[in-house]
Amino acid sequence: MSTTQASTRHFDVVIIGSGAAGLTTALQLPENLKVAIICKQALKSGATPWAQGGVAAVLDEQDSVDSHCSDTMTAGAHLNDPDMVRFIVEDSTDSIHWLIDQGVPFTRDTVDEPLMSEKDGFHLTKEGGHSVRRIIHAADATGAAITSTLIQRTLERSNISIFENRIAVDLINSRDNQGQSSCVGLYVLNLEHDNVETFHAGSTVLATGGASKVYLYTSNPDGASGDGIAMAWRAGCRVANMEFNQFHPTCLYHPHAKSFLISEALRGEGAHLKLPNGKRFMHKFDERGELAPRDIVARAIDHEMKRLGCDHVNLDISHKSPEFIKSHFPTIYERCLKFNIDITSEGIPVVPAAHYTCGGVVIDEKGRTDVRDLYAIGEVAHSGLHGANRLASNSLLECIVLGRAAAKNIEKQNKETTKTSLPTIPPWDDSLVTNSDEDVIISHNWDELRRFMWDYVGIVRTTKRLERAKHRVDLLLREIHEYYSNYKVSRDLIELRNLVLVADLIIRSALQRKESRGLHFTLDHPDSLHDAQNTLLTPPPKQPSWR
Ligand code: FAD
Ligand code: SIN
Repeated sequence: MSTTQASTRHFDVVIIGSGAAGLTTALQLPENLKVAIICKQALKSGATPWAQGGVAAVLDEQDSVDSHCSDTMTAGAHLNDPDMVRFIVEDSTDSIHWLIDQGVPFTRDTVDEPLMSEKDGFHLTKEGGHSVRRIIHAADATGAAITSTLIQRTLERSNISIFENRIAVDLINSRDNQGQSSCVGLYVLNLEHDNVETFHAGSTVLATGGASKVYLYTSNPDGASGDGIAMAWRAGCRVANMEFNQFHPTCLYHPHAKSFLISEALRGEGAHLKLPNGKRFMHKFDERGELAPRDIVARAIDHEMKRLGCDHVNLDISHKSPEFIKSHFPTIYERCLKFNIDITSEGIPVVPAAHYTCGGVVIDEKGRTDVRDLYAIGEVAHSGLHGANRLASNSLLECIVLGRAAAKNIEKQNKETTKTSLPTIPPWDDSLVTNSDEDVIISHNWDELRRFMWDYVGIVRTTKRLERAKHRVDLLLREIHEYYSNYKVSRDLIELRNLVLVADLIIRSALQRKESRGLHFTLDHPDSLHDAQNTLLTPPPKQPSWR
């Protein structure tokens, strides 16, 4: 089979991903830079359009940077990087004003609920772990509002080219005379034409989102396969804290409701968690009750479900007026009604599901990774903001703040460096591979991986379960590597290859942590150690990144 090599495209900046992180970075770059956004589906894809609750920020006179920082650190079990937390929270007000300036239609305050300062007049809601109301939102569909607005602004920019239905396969590194590695571009599978294209980039930004698809049950859309984490690892970047997988306590439990989240804002507005017999139970686990941080609420639900052998618990907001419920939660109301659940008169069946990847590619406050000219922003990254458990609605905030910071740094770098000649990029070579006639291996391995991750590396862990998972992931790593080496790439194969690598990083990190902290809870080490330490994994010396 011959090599299918399209011509190389050249850009100042290539951004992989069109969620809050990717779009913010693109819009913050100056218009004299030639920018490409690559995304594996349509532009409106990823987790961002699914976000419900809102964006946490210091916006109210009753609130302060100190208070937001302190809530973030408490939720994160003090594994957070205090400087990064402060850096992000200090920029939260400006970041929200930037979103408002872009035209994001955040929900306005109403006369009977004056919750925010007169001059701004936006409604602020509350979520678990926040000591005050500080979540600005667009009803219960904040992510959709942010995405639509930022996409509109992006389409108005002539310097930004969009490449949809293209999946990044691997980054391309080049080494200078001192052995310093830098990223010079990437290989991308064009899913419409089924050929691999080469992008050359002055700077490359990973904005590929998280990896929650590694678990059988998740609130995330299908593309959350950890591609950016896997590509960065293969390119030589360290990853940190991969054992901290956040399980959202309340996803709709219904056989036909794939991945539908019931926002934490319901609990913020007074919803109660109840057992099948109608009794509330959260006060047994934490004095903050339903508004305890997510790790605690998810573990409590898991405990009660296992204790009683029930399939779900109920989240009940029906004591509020139907008008209140329908105006605050129109999307959730409509969605539940489709499944014959009227949330104005009955509880919603809910279960925990994998929701957010707290760990990721190690970055600094400019979004820079270990590899020169390679940035990572948003859920793909480990900035140090979230520690051992992300505080609700801090993720979108991180995407916006660090997207802005990375763009500034790229602009500065671009002014300071004159790149004289283009590096040589080896062509993609698939001359030694054939079309697979055994795609069943991909679907089988995909299912197996997600199931054992759920069973052995879930909300409650033990060393024995983690070792079982490690044994299985080792077999899958070998099998998938062999498959990847012999057959042509496809979207499913690329995602599976990434997902199995991410699963391995999660299990290795979890085995290294000999304590329980935040989202990592193990029966073999139920207490926290005195000193909070990050789990840092360093990749083996770089392998060639092309085939
Ligand atoms: P994403 O928005 O996930 O975007 C990833 C992008 O990368 C997509 O465009 C995807 O197509 C692209 N991509 C991935 N891999 C490749 C590849 N190999 N090649 C090309 N393109 C690729 N957080 C909050 O702060 N507040 C909330 O209210 C909130 N609610 C949530 C509700 C739900 C249901 C979910 C799932 C998450 C929620 N979160 C919330 C978390 C938050 O939405 C995400 O963490 C955040 O949107 C991630 O943004 P991102 O830009 O990093 O990635
Ligand atoms: C939610 O609305 O409950 C999700 C908020 C988040 O993940 O930060």
